[in-house]
Amino acid sequence: MSDFIPLDLPLVLLSNRGPVSFDRDTAGRTVGRGAGGLVSALSGLAEHLDDAVWVCGAASEEDAAVAAEHSGSSILVQTHPQPRLIEGEAEGPAIRVRLVVTDPSAYADFYSVWSNPILWFIQHGLYGRTLSPVLTRAEHDAFENGYATVNRAYADAVVDEVRARGGKALVLLQDYHFYLVADWVREQCPDVVLTHFIHIPWPGPDEWRILPGDIRERLLRGLLGSDVVGFHTRRYARNFVLCAAELLGLPTDLEQLTVTVGDRLVRARYYPISVDPAALDATQASEEVAAHIAMLRYLFLDDDRQLILRVDRTDPSKNVVRGFLAFGTLLDQHPELVGKVSFLALLQPSRTDVPEYADYIALIGGLVAEINARHTKEGRQPIDLRMVEDFPLAVAAYSICDVLIVNAIADGMNLVAKEVAVVNRRGGVLALSEMAGAHEELGEFAVTLQPFDVQQMADALYTALTMPMEERHRRLAAAAEQVRTHDVRRWLDDQLVDLRRIAGFI
Ligand code: G6P
Repeated sequence: MSDFIPLDLPLVLLSNRGPVSFDRDTAGRTVGRGAGGLVSALSGLAEHLDDAVWVCGAASEEDAAVAAEHSGSSILVQTHPQPRLIEGEAEGPAIRVRLVVTDPSAYADFYSVWSNPILWFIQHGLYGRTLSPVLTRAEHDAFENGYATVNRAYADAVVDEVRARGGKALVLLQDYHFYLVADWVREQCPDVVLTHFIHIPWPGPDEWRILPGDIRERLLRGLLGSDVVGFHTRRYARNFVLCAAELLGLPTDLEQLTVTVGDRLVRARYYPISVDPAALDATQASEEVAAHIAMLRYLFLDDDRQLILRVDRTDPSKNVVRGFLAFGTLLDQHPELVGKVSFLALLQPSRTDVPEYADYIALIGGLVAEINARHTKEGRQPIDLRMVEDFPLAVAAYSICDVLIVNAIADGMNLVAKEVAVVNRRGGVLALSEMAGAHEELGEFAVTLQPFDVQQMADALYTALTMPMEERHRRLAAAAEQVRTHDVRRWLDDQLVDLRRIAGFI
């Protein structure tokens, strides 16, 4: 990729998951790259800059051991060709990392009580309003002892790193784990230029009324310590401004998407995140992917058969169960497709320490067994469910699927849809939820899914499977063009330009 925009300021990044992780095997300590869209989107920038540090959680025991050995200060990890911890000067690309260690029980309250079951669920429209007692005493306590405590620990680490850089830095905070950090950092370091980017949907004020007034106010005021609060879509940015107006009574401008807090102007902005097409092309060209493609073709695509694909974490927001219900309905209503269409689901178990997530995996397994029992023909099961996290296998499946199903109840962006648009070579049709952020950019090239309407989704899958080849290729080419011209660098560059403007450099 071409050079990054000059920043003129040191950079301090914060996310819960970091760019590297340490582990231990029989041969000793190992270092791996962190996975996920957020980490890959920001790693290039962190590697490129001399004066950048990435503050993140010590996610493994070995991470905590490394942090303890370095008395909590930052470490330098060379990232290429093989990730390794280094003591002196790096000879290749490297990232400076500050691992934050927190008390395990506070972290559990932060991650498994507040961040995921409460904030994630509210922001994806999943929070139970009928049966769950909102909020229990234990959950109230967990806000203070978990979410706020852990936020404070990360904020202190950020402040430390900013001060080590003279008190003036560009601070990029990531996601819903850290809504209280911006305000605390600004209090200690008033000269920072600070963006908080939220990678998940932001619902309107009424959804937030689920939370007690004092807590929602603290979350919003925390975020308003930023100069820019970033989202993937205009709708989320607008909802955020509405929340500031309706829940805090602050002066706002819904056209300009701004909130006035005392003498400061906070801007809500939208920057749709994307993928790195060159990196995807390189992965697709690898021998490993070629071998997977040959195997998948053999398994699913002989005799003019067709393949529906989904690649997701096992997250209730991804709506995997209704996706399978729609597929089952499709086979019930179109028996001619039985034996002709397979559904490959590559699912990664996620957040299994949260009961809702563990229950969801069990629900998926039961439903798949039931549909397979109903529709197996000539020894061929319609659904192949694999619980794996295997990116080369996913890229192989992306390359040759006929239909990708993304039927999320809500999804900040959904990068799988963009990845398929770039690498598919078969005129693959995107069957895309109207509730995924990606639908704003790719909806016109996709078949739209309404995620709660199983019959609508079954009909849409039928439309996708029977779409003329020419039309399929036309839509895919247009989607690929949109993604290639709006890649992850553009996501980052647009933010950096805005921040430089706020800092007065342009
Ligand atoms: C989403 C969030 C990320 C998060 C990822 C994986 O993409 O936006 O912040 O890291 O899910 O979830 P996990 O809980 O495993 O970090």
